[in-house]
Amino acid sequence: MSKRVKGNMFVCQSCGTASLRWMGRCPGCGEWDSLVEERGSSPENVAEKEINAVALACADSLDITRVLTGNSEFDRVLGGGMVPGSLVLLGGEPGVGKSTLLLQISELIAGKGDKVLYISGEESAEQIKLRGDRVGAESRNLLVSTQTSMEEVTWLVEKEQPDMLVVDSIQTMFSPEMASAPGSVGQVRECTMRFLDMAKRRNLSTILIGHITKDGAIAGPKILEHIVDVVLYFEGDMSHNQKLIRTVKNRFGPANELGIFEMTSRGLQSVENPSGMFLAERKKNVSGSVVMAAMQGTRPMLVELQALVTRSSFSTARRMTAGVDPGRVTLLMAMLEKRAGIILNSCDVYMNVAGGLSLSEPALDLAVIGAVVSSYRDIPIDDKTVVFGEVGLAGEIRAVSSVSARVREAFGMGFEKVVMPPTNLDSLDNNKRKELKTVESVLDFLEAVGL
Ligand code: TYD
Ligand code: MG
Repeated sequence: MSKRVKGNMFVCQSCGTASLRWMGRCPGCGEWDSLVEERGSSPENVAEKEINAVALACADSLDITRVLTGNSEFDRVLGGGMVPGSLVLLGGEPGVGKSTLLLQISELIAGKGDKVLYISGEESAEQIKLRGDRVGAESRNLLVSTQTSMEEVTWLVEKEQPDMLVVDSIQTMFSPEMASAPGSVGQVRECTMRFLDMAKRRNLSTILIGHITKDGAIAGPKILEHIVDVVLYFEGDMSHNQKLIRTVKNRFGPANELGIFEMTSRGLQSVENPSGMFLAERKKNVSGSVVMAAMQGTRPMLVELQALVTRSSFSTARRMTAGVDPGRVTLLMAMLEKRAGIILNSCDVYMNVAGGLSLSEPALDLAVIGAVVSSYRDIPIDDKTVVFGEVGLAGEIRAVSSVSARVREAFGMGFEKVVMPPTNLDSLDNNKRKELKTVESVLDFLEAVGL
């Protein structure tokens, strides 16, 4: 990266590379039309201002109050409600339901008496009205505007003094002060900075919708995600009505939180019992199927993992997985060969998480092993059993986090046996009717689940 010098510079809005002259393509990251002129700060300018630092102990502490939107899953991904003055970015593919959800949230907030301004650069007021009719948006406090110029939006906010602002989408906003087109890296960054300033200065909660690129990242500069307080990704399987929102970053709460919705004819509905939803289509007494207690953020969730192990007709056996890291599956199969003598190198292995979820936590290991061995031996695992636990390379079973939450969810959902790592059981609720089985090695585990 070139050194920053006194005077005006052209700075890439994507990676930050600085150059003395304008270039069509950034030499640093290869992005087109990303260099924007920025005023350099000279030491003289700095000296003129009064600059202070304050002792941390004396700084005012930030009292985080949260405003519940009333949509339980959306409040969950925000970390327990919206923090006033926060800037939230919601990214997702076209058609996943971003505009629908935010119109519903806007209506919920407006219905409580707060004023919400919904700026749409994507659709006409008539189109928004049509959607509003479907989701029952009828509050007088919900104002809609199709302005896309930053100047006009700023003026509107000044005039209407809303309590919440929704911008659909950040890529359609533009500042006439900048020469580049709406949606260009420079414009997106500039407009986001202006919304940030507005949010903090006026204590105005703001949600920006962001388009995503083919690779699944929010279109525009990566630094966009650094600017905002909360980044949410909206994912959905187009063939299913289930939609998921994942918290990727949250300055005021836990990341990795998962919100689950279902698209209906009247907008998105929160799914209150995800375990029930993910297990709804489960066939009982089928080999290769295991129910695991997974954690999605702070919430336990039961999901079904399925494996199909067949004799391979290829010289190199296939390993195909959906929702599970194939590298981890391969590693666990090598461990099975060494520690349990189960040799799978002439078998194709297919693995799938039912319901389209992606799982990546270590506690998944026992479920992977259970599903693979159950399919390989064609012996079903008892359908009232739930498993979780990490497996080490020596075949030892290792402890995982949130044990009591997982166990509670399993028993709460009507399961009768939990197979898990050795854990300090004192902290668990005493539930005599049900069976808790701790296992120390892979061989122990296979015996505990009857394989
Ligand atoms: P939309 O919110 O416009 O998606 P995005 O803003 O992310 O591009 O709508 C997504 C889809 O949802 C669209 O294909 C129509 C469908 N839909 C419903 O099924 N039910 C509804 O009540 C609404 C409003 C939309
Ligand atoms: Mg939209």
